Amino acid sequence: MTTPSNALRDRCAAPLPHPDAGQMQALGRQAMDWVVRHLATLADQPVGHTGTRAELEALLRCPPPESGRDFAAVLRDFEEKIASHAFRPSHPRFLAFIPSAPSFLSVLGEVLCAGTNFFGSVWLESAAPSQVELLVLDWFKELLGCPASARGVLTAGGSEANLTALVTAREPLSFEERARAVLYVTEQRHWSVDRATRVMGLRPDQVRPVPTDGRYRLRIDALAELIRRDREEGRRPWALVANAGATNTGAVDALAPLGDFCRREQLWFHVDAAYGWVAVLTPEGKALLEGIGAADSLTLDPHKWFGQTFESGCVLVRDGRLLGQTFAMRPEYMQDVEPAEDQVNFADYGIALTRRFRSLKIWLSVQVLGLSWFRRLVEHCCLLAEYGQRLLEEAGCFEFCFVNWRTTAADVEEVVGLLRELGEQLERRTSNVER
Ligand SMILES: Cc1ncc(COP(=O)(O)O)c(C=O)c1O
Repeated sequence: MTTPSNALRDRCAAPLPHPDAGQMQALGRQAMDWVVRHLATLADQPVGHTGTRAELEALLRCPPPESGRDFAAVLRDFEEKIASHAFRPSHPRFLAFIPSAPSFLSVLGEVLCAGTNFFGSVWLESAAPSQVELLVLDWFKELLGCPASARGVLTAGGSEANLTALVTAREPLSFEERARAVLYVTEQRHWSVDRATRVMGLRPDQVRPVPTDGRYRLRIDALAELIRRDREEGRRPWALVANAGATNTGAVDALAPLGDFCRREQLWFHVDAAYGWVAVLTPEGKALLEGIGAADSLTLDPHKWFGQTFESGCVLVRDGRLLGQTFAMRPEYMQDVEPAEDQVNFADYGIALTRRFRSLKIWLSVQVLGLSWFRRLVEHCCLLAEYGQRLLEEAGCFEFCFVNWRTTAADVEEVVGLLRELGEQLERRTSNVER
């Protein structure tokens, strides 16, 4: 008998055409062969090409084809028209901006992530992927010396991490306090901090840039003076954003003294360590970043110096409960995904609901390469930087002003102390002469 439901069942009985196992293998091999050839010949390729909008319109503009085309032909288009008009950020001669050199294991992690497309947002649907994210976050916490109370979430990048951290930092303030809240930011901050303040609806007068010293590090004396004045004028000093690796200058703020200062002044202490955090893997880096684990929140970008493909960021929050208090919501259709006490719905810790299994590529590459590989990566990059410095010194026409890799925070403190003492001596002598 033909019922309405039978008729509908007949109409949708045949699934959409989809490649079978053999076809998937053939297509996958073509794509992976292309990637491997691309990576293996990277050094011999040009660093990249750009193009005008008109050129790219001419090259790529077309209506979406109603019937699909052959994969090999589309892959050829990708090679000839798309890959040919982009820079290769992992090219050995790509020295602009912040280069990116993902390990091949991270690339494979992307393949597995996309191939499974697990929903990395709620425990019920993604128990083991969520556990892997917890594990990776614990690795980072341990490396950085964060307390057990810290929790985090992997984000699309440092911009999202900075925004997530600042929104979390603001959550405990009353609405009255929020209107008077002042955020102090180093002059050397990344501009994503400014964008975060705009997204959060902070007024320009609520964001106070703090001057830096001769090495582009935030001046605590200047910060103290700004806070004193703001308190006097009835404002609510609220949070500080410091750098562990400034984008423009590489400056690392004096994190330990700043952490102590923020605790005394009851300021939320956020450290943007987007690329710098990986330096903790080496003794020199660990010394330079001393105090980082005491931050109230941290921005880390594994896609910068930790060999990961793009869209691999991370935020850690010292009092991890605040993440859930800030972001968790239970709309009706999600009523069945309430996590148990010891489980985590990562969608509760940030802005995105649907999230890919971001921790997979990090887990995979650390498992296969071992942490020692990443330590060597940092050491190798620093050697390259020193070599670059030497070449520039030999060129004789460059001026140098940066925190030397071999200079520890303690060295810097010592020099600052000596300079202060000299200044005081000079002042005493001048006033004696005047008398
Ligand atoms: C110090 C710092 N913070 C934040 C960001 C923003 O990170 P993302 O580009 O991953 O959004 C960058 C990017 O260069 C950075 O260098």
